[in-house]
Amino acid sequence: LWLRGSVRALLVLQVLGWVGVRSTLVCPKFCECSDPARTVKCVNRELSRIPADIPTNVRTLFITGNNISRLPSGAFRRLDQLATLNLSGNKMGAIEPLAFASLPNLKQLDLSNNHICSFSPAAFSADPGQLRDLNLSRALYNASSVEEVSDLLQNGSLTNLVTLDLSRNDLVYLPGSIFARLPNLKSLDLSNNSLVELRPRAFRHLDLDRLNLSHNALKTLSNSTLVELGSQPRLRVHLKENPFACDCGIEGFLRWLASADRVEEKDALLCASPDSMKDRPLVQIKASQLDCSYAGDMESVLQTSYVFLGIVLALIGLIFVFVLYLNRKGIKKWLFNFRDACRDHMEGYHYRYEINTDPRLTNLSSNSDV
Ligand SMILES: *[C@@H]1O[C@H](CO)[C@@H](O)[C@H](O)[C@H]1NC(C)=O
Ligand SMILES: *[C@@H]1O[C@H](CO)[C@@H](O)[C@H](O)[C@H]1NC(C)=O
Ligand SMILES: *[C@@H]1O[C@H](CO)[C@@H](O)[C@H](O)[C@H]1NC(C)=O
Ligand SMILES: *[C@@H]1O[C@H](CO)[C@@H](O)[C@H](O)[C@H]1NC(C)=O
Ligand SMILES: *[C@@H]1O[C@H](CO)[C@@H](O)[C@H](O)[C@H]1NC(C)=O
Ligand SMILES: *[C@@H]1O[C@H](CO)[C@@H](O)[C@H](O)[C@H]1NC(C)=O
Ligand SMILES: *[C@@H]1O[C@H](CO)[C@@H](O)[C@H](O)[C@H]1NC(C)=O
Ligand SMILES: *[C@@H]1O[C@H](CO)[C@@H](O)[C@H](O)[C@H]1NC(C)=O
Repeated sequence: LWLRGSVRALLVLQVLGWVGVRSTLVCPKFCECSDPARTVKCVNRELSRIPADIPTNVRTLFITGNNISRLPSGAFRRLDQLATLNLSGNKMGAIEPLAFASLPNLKQLDLSNNHICSFSPAAFSADPGQLRDLNLSRALYNASSVEEVSDLLQNGSLTNLVTLDLSRNDLVYLPGSIFARLPNLKSLDLSNNSLVELRPRAFRHLDLDRLNLSHNALKTLSNSTLVELGSQPRLRVHLKENPFACDCGIEGFLRWLASADRVEEKDALLCASPDSMKDRPLVQIKASQLDCSYAGDMESVLQTSYVFLGIVLALIGLIFVFVLYLNRKGIKKWLFNFRDACRDHMEGYHYRYEINTDPRLTNLSSNSDV
């Protein structure tokens, strides 16, 4: 009897569950839904907002190639089980506070190919979520947006992030501690930007497996960056297609390249300047071959400034002499006056001297002393 009862209860539960699934999987207009895969796709339909009636048990949601310029607060309510969210190519410009806050199981978020110029640092829920993969490839409107992304990454809500793609964003610099609060980050793609230099401490708190810095504008890597990269034991760095400047400034990097085994395809790293070194592989260059014309320039600058100083002093001297020449009459007069004054004075001395040296007068005075 007990067995039959529980079987019946199970059947009832199953029917209820089936009805539940049916009722939640009413597919939104312009979207395609797959029940078994719990996937909803609304692709290339020129939607201007997130559909309101997305089945609540969805695990994978693609809303791509639409025209959703703004992602408001709470855009994805009730989607507790959503794990993968793809919002690629939606011409998205603004992501407002708490836009992703009610997605406790979100693991993968693709925001690539958008024009984000306003990304709220409070877009995710306050406590660290499950998010592991964040794709911001070609997602930012311009390089200025990186400041907001930096605040977002440091909010503390993305501490479980493992993969971050920031490629193809025209970034020219990385804000100081942009990656400081991503302790679990393993793969970082910064390729195809315009990074000119890497600031000290940019990679200090990381323990990466993979760092892609190829297709940037790096001329060298500073010693502090080399130390930071060298301290991450499993790291493989990609540095191809950077315009390395093979002058004095690259010596530390060359030494590191030869000793540390961190760089993938290091034979493919080429000098871009100076002309005499162009297209030569970095690994074949010896420190003695580096033309430190930078220091030479400094020396010649110093030399020219000395010459200039000399010319200025000579000019001042000439002007002085010329002024003296113009005033020669006055000066002559002044000199005569001076000489006369001196002569009068000297004559006084002379007179006294003569008195003092006259032996008769001296005797007289000594006698009178006696
Ligand atoms: C996209 O949306 C904007 C306003 O949000 C509108 O001006 C524009 O015409 C839309 N573009 C297309 C292709 O629908
Ligand atoms: C998201 O969609 C775009 C465009 O359909 C696609 O290229 C990309 O691979 C998708 N991302 C993920 C993580 O599935
Ligand atoms: C981080 O996000 C939470 C909400 O998700 C917000 O309350 C908080 O102000 C944000 N912190 C910063 C520094 O922006
Ligand atoms: C990010 O998105 C771009 C474009 O959709 C894609 O090419 C790239 O592979 C994605 N990156 C990752 C880490 O999935
Ligand atoms: C980025 O775009 C904003 C808004 O249009 C503008 O104010 C800012 O100067 C731009 N920044 C860069 C680096 O182009
Ligand atoms: C690094 O980035 C470049 C440019 O985006 C790409 O061609 C290359 O495949 C990437 N390398 C790896 C290992 O991801
Ligand atoms: C780099 O970005 C530009 C513009 O976004 C694109 O045309 C080019 O194909 C990209 N290169 C690589 C290697 O991804
Ligand atoms: C960097 O280190 C190299 C030796 O590894 C040294 O020759 C060079 O002076 C250092 N550069 C700076 C700026 O400290």
